[in-house]
Amino acid sequence: MPEVIIVKNEAEAGEIYARAVADLIKSKPDAVLGLATGSSPLAAYQALAKTVKDEAIDMSRVRGFALDEYIGLPLSHPESYHSTIHRTVVEPLGMNPDLVHVPGDVLDGAPLEDGDKLAHAGADYDAAIEAAGGIDVQILGIGTDGHVGFNEPGSSLASGTRIKTLVEQTRVDNARFFDDDIDQVPTHCITQGIGTIMRARHLVLLAFGAGKAEAVAQTCEGGVSAFCPASALQMHPHATIIVDEAAASSL
Ligand code: GLP
Repeated sequence: MPEVIIVKNEAEAGEIYARAVADLIKSKPDAVLGLATGSSPLAAYQALAKTVKDEAIDMSRVRGFALDEYIGLPLSHPESYHSTIHRTVVEPLGMNPDLVHVPGDVLDGAPLEDGDKLAHAGADYDAAIEAAGGIDVQILGIGTDGHVGFNEPGSSLASGTRIKTLVEQTRVDNARFFDDDIDQVPTHCITQGIGTIMRARHLVLLAFGAGKAEAVAQTCEGGVSAFCPASALQMHPHATIIVDEAAASSL
């Protein structure tokens, strides 16, 4: 079973992440952070922003790669992951926006039909991560069905970054960001693969609330299986799972 830390609340989880990342950046000023959207990492970014300010840490050389992006949303759309990552991470942390990459950046809202643009985007993104020397710390949330990034159940555990279809449940879960209208939620995405994520040197998965309890139990104690993509973390040499009591309640 991976390392599991049970905390009181999201703020306490955020402190653990912030300490680890702040120490990393002090020893490696051009560290490579793996970034995620969703509500789970927000307290961690806030804690890191506070630590960066309190300890006057220079963020100007820190690099970042996000996990995933919708297909077909212009980068400027407020719910594109490009916009979300820049709003919730890059600006509060004072990172150089030119050093932060989101998988859809090169697509710039290209529709699913634009095969030429889409064909190489995934492999190019993995090559860019490789060229940066790999990701030092990858923060992860988890979907209620055990997805990480947008690797839905059934995703190959060896997969690279690629275009995927979103399952109905994830589109329902994410409709809250699109006026509660599922028809506005894109049907496809580009996501780092499980194989890509597994190459990061340290994985930190955050999960809070009873709605995540089953996915957390499958991740930590179920068999390693593509049906719960997060269960691949059991095979990672340095994975830390930080949960509150409600999310730990099925362990
Ligand atoms: C989306 C994202 C995932 C995220 C998940 C859970 O599907 N692509 O990266 O982990 O939502 O989101 P939340 O943390 O808001 O529960």
